[in-house]
Amino acid sequence: MKNTLTYAAALVAAFAPFGLAQDSIPKCGDGSQCPEDAPCCSQYGQCGVGAYCLGGCDPKHSFDLQSCLPAPICKSQDFSMDSLDSPGVRSQSRYLGNGSETNWVSSGQPVTYQDSVLLTMAPNTVGTLLMSAHYVWYGKIKASLKTSQGAGVVTAFILMSDMKDEIDFEFVGTNMKTAETNYYFQGITNYNNGDDIDVDSDTRQNWHEYEIDWKPESIQWKIDGNTVRTLNRDDTYNDTTKQHNYPQTPSRVQLSLWPGGLPSNGEGTIEWAGGLVDWDSEYMQNGYYYASVKDISVECYDPPHGDKNGNSYYYSSTTGTEDTVVIGDNSTVIGSMQATGDDPDKGKPQPSSDSKSSSTSSSTSTSTATPQSVPGMSGGGNAGNSGGSSSSGDSGSAGNSGDTSGSANDNTGVQGGNGPTTFEQGTGSDSGSSSSSGGSAGTSQANHVVAGSAVALLGFFIAALML
Ligand SMILES: *[C@@H]1O[C@H](CO)[C@@H](O)[C@H](O)[C@H]1NC(C)=O
Ligand SMILES: *[C@@H]1O[C@H](CO)[C@@H](O)[C@H](O)[C@H]1NC(C)=O
Ligand SMILES: *[C@@H]1O[C@H](CO)[C@@H](O)[C@H](O)[C@H]1NC(C)=O
Repeated sequence: MKNTLTYAAALVAAFAPFGLAQDSIPKCGDGSQCPEDAPCCSQYGQCGVGAYCLGGCDPKHSFDLQSCLPAPICKSQDFSMDSLDSPGVRSQSRYLGNGSETNWVSSGQPVTYQDSVLLTMAPNTVGTLLMSAHYVWYGKIKASLKTSQGAGVVTAFILMSDMKDEIDFEFVGTNMKTAETNYYFQGITNYNNGDDIDVDSDTRQNWHEYEIDWKPESIQWKIDGNTVRTLNRDDTYNDTTKQHNYPQTPSRVQLSLWPGGLPSNGEGTIEWAGGLVDWDSEYMQNGYYYASVKDISVECYDPPHGDKNGNSYYYSSTTGTEDTVVIGDNSTVIGSMQATGDDPDKGKPQPSSDSKSSSTSSSTSTSTATPQSVPGMSGGGNAGNSGGSSSSGDSGSAGNSGDTSGSANDNTGVQGGNGPTTFEQGTGSDSGSSSSSGGSAGTSQANHVVAGSAVALLGFFIAALML
């Protein structure tokens, strides 16, 4: 994780020419807040409604403290990732915040293969991201992973809060013997926070169990049960600001595969990621790069304060420190993709034709700019999805820009995703000839991007998030 904010901004800029709606999406961050009609500041620094107000919504730069929905509280759970149903994976474009129905929110194209879930990355996509619906406010999180390989290809297992506190394991595809550990406090860049750890066998060929043991007073990173790094909160005190630069706010678990090595990324990112991505690589199978995930477990620790029997977290102040986190009984759910924390029932489908909600939703779709409802759907670049046949994934719903119908557009490939029968893990020798999803996307991507940009473009901001 290098320089989250700067690179995120760079990515937004890089893709702006393709993003038809780009200029009309209000920006937020760096002291500027969202306007009332698009009140929620996404993790990508853009304002919208609907999913913008759920996971990743930044309370500091949203319209007010009510705009972001409270977040589902930590829930101790084990997941064997052998199907997408039993762990409850749902596309971001269909998730309305109910953590009782959904454990993982996805973007991109996860598929099941044997007893694991593959995070795939086909040409001209920005890969796949799984985010826990439940937040963790201190806990022990384990995941068994096989990373991807190849220049510019990054596999990540991180915790990230809406205030941009972050605890990371990252794997760069040119170095199969190293796990990079890192942490951030409120997204503040500090190049001394990282630490590279030797792993005793190839991270792509072998399952390793990676663990983040996050307590109020210390963080331990572990690999296969061995502690490889410890960070003490006491050692993060900043004399100037008089605060601990220590991750301390409720965070989502995120697993991802993303392209650090895209030409549109910042030079520093490309270099860190080991160079540009080769989209015709021996490490691809069935037309995509992949990382494998299985056996995720989350064990929640008692919160440092507040009622652990509550059901959601929210912030009492935009300072975003531990003492401003509140555990309440507030609802975490929005009624539709037009709703916000300020107006959570907006657009909610109603059996009786209640005039209020229906007239609101139809009037928003006329006239000027309708607020965006799924972060990263516009102006970003999950370009391949717009061209690829089978991987419409989240992108299909993007163009809706606030229309409820968007949420009906399921990530069919995701929900029903099964490992392609021809998939072979390991050698990667046949990648070039692959005919599946990624294959068709390679041609004339610019056309596809332009044509599809209003409807595609999910994941680029996901990638931005991961930087
Ligand atoms: C949560 O509920 C409390 C108590 O009703 C209320 O004061 C607070 O504003 C709510 N917070 C959010 C973010 O909705
Ligand atoms: C969330 O989902 C559960 C399980 O399907 C359901 O019982 C509950 O009513 C839902 N909550 C809301 C607020 O929709
Ligand atoms: C402490 O915080 C200030 C202000 O953000 C920053 O300029 C400085 O580099 C920090 N010091 C350390 C040791 O990180």
